Order: sequence, then structure tokens, then C-alpha cells
Amino acid sequence: MTQDELKQAVAQAAIQYVVENEIVGVGTGSTANFFIDELAKIKHKIKGAVASSEVTAARLRGHGIEVFDLNDVTSMSVYIDGADEITEQGAVIKGGGAALTREKIVASVAKQFICIADGSKLVNMLGKFPLPVEVIPMARAVVIRKLNAIGGDARLRVKDGVPVLTDNGNIILDVHGLQINNPAELEAEINNIVGVVTVGLFARQGANICLLGTEDGVRILQF
Ligand code: 5RP
Repeated sequence: MTQDELKQAVAQAAIQYVVENEIVGVGTGSTANFFIDELAKIKHKIKGAVASSEVTAARLRGHGIEVFDLNDVTSMSVYIDGADEITEQGAVIKGGGAALTREKIVASVAKQFICIADGSKLVNMLGKFPLPVEVIPMARAVVIRKLNAIGGDARLRVKDGVPVLTDNGNIILDVHGLQINNPAELEAEINNIVGVVTVGLFARQGANICLLGTEDGVRILQF
């Protein structure tokens, strides 16, 4: 199976976790896009969605799914999103698509974070994927120094020669070379650096369930 077929398989499997007549939280990225396309098939059964990015909101609306402002939503059963890396313990690196802050906010409202990923995302230790950190632009240099002081190699994310800006107008630093032995501790440490908006570690509130696409079918990991 191709990686896209594995993503498609987990996106389909995630539909069973969507609660009828409710609002569902929706992530960002290629796997989340497959999920949105599946969600469109049952859109008459849900109230609507909260999006974790402008791109996701546009795709949801394109399918005729109503997009709610998170400020108007008090509870949500599930948040469904992809991952850049995930451990057998449910700690996740996210932010490859620069949507980490809104992803973490929407996930924090949901009772369950259902992570959907192809099998290549499962790792023994987080950190091979450079850890994304959303940062206030004026704090770029000081935050780079502080991230490097804890053993990383923080680099400004650039695309087509210009810094990538998040939906919130901030920059992304990708921290290379970290071996993340204690994700929850590192999450707190990096979030504590002044100028950091959010680190893309989801460990203190990680995934509750991961649907992992493998050649042998969709593997369900419960945490
Ligand atoms: C976006 C994310 C994505 O969920 C993550 O990058 C995985 O993306 P994909 O499903 O395309 O592999 O965190 O900020």
C-alpha cells in the first residue's frame, strides 16, 4: 500500500469515532484532509466542525460542512488529527503543517484526541522529526539561543525564501537534534520560554487513541 492509501484507511476508520449530532474538532495536514473528505460523506449526521487552521476551515466549507468558532463551543467529544511522530505511550510531535497552536487549543477542548497516522509515524523516541515551535517574531533570536542551550539546533522555517508564518502571524522554529526522553517535561520547559507561543509536543495531553495504518490493516493503540 502507498502512504496515501494508509492515510486514507485511517481516515475512514476514524469516522466510527465521530459522534452524531455533535461538533467534531478537525486537524490539519494530508491525513486530516483524507478525514475531511470522509466526514463529508456523513455531514448530514453531524452538527458541524471546529477547524484547527484556515486551510482546514476552507476544505470543510468546500464540502458544505458548517465551521464553528471555538469560542461558541463549550464541549466536543472528539478531536481528530494527524501526527509527525507518535510513541507507543501516546506522546506526539505535531506542527509539520505549522498549525500546532490551534491544533493544541482545539484538542484541549475535546474529551478525546484521536490521532490518525500511517505506520511510518510510530517511533520509539521522539525527536528525529525536527520539533516545531511557534514563536513571536520579535523573540526569534533569544528563543533560538535558549532552545540551543537545551541541546537543540533551532532553525527558522523558511519556504520559497521567506519565513513561514502561522495563521496567528507568528514564525516557526524547527528544533533539530533533540532526543526526547521525557516529552512531558520538555513540553513544559519549552512552553516556559518567554516568546514561545506553543511547542509542538503533545505529551501532557497526548493522544487518547491512535489509528495507525499498516500493511496488515488499521492498528488501534489506546493510551
Ligand atoms: C500540521 C500537523 C499535521 O497533523 C502533521 O504535520 C501530519 O501531517 P500529515 O498528515 O500531512 O503527515 O501537525 O500542523
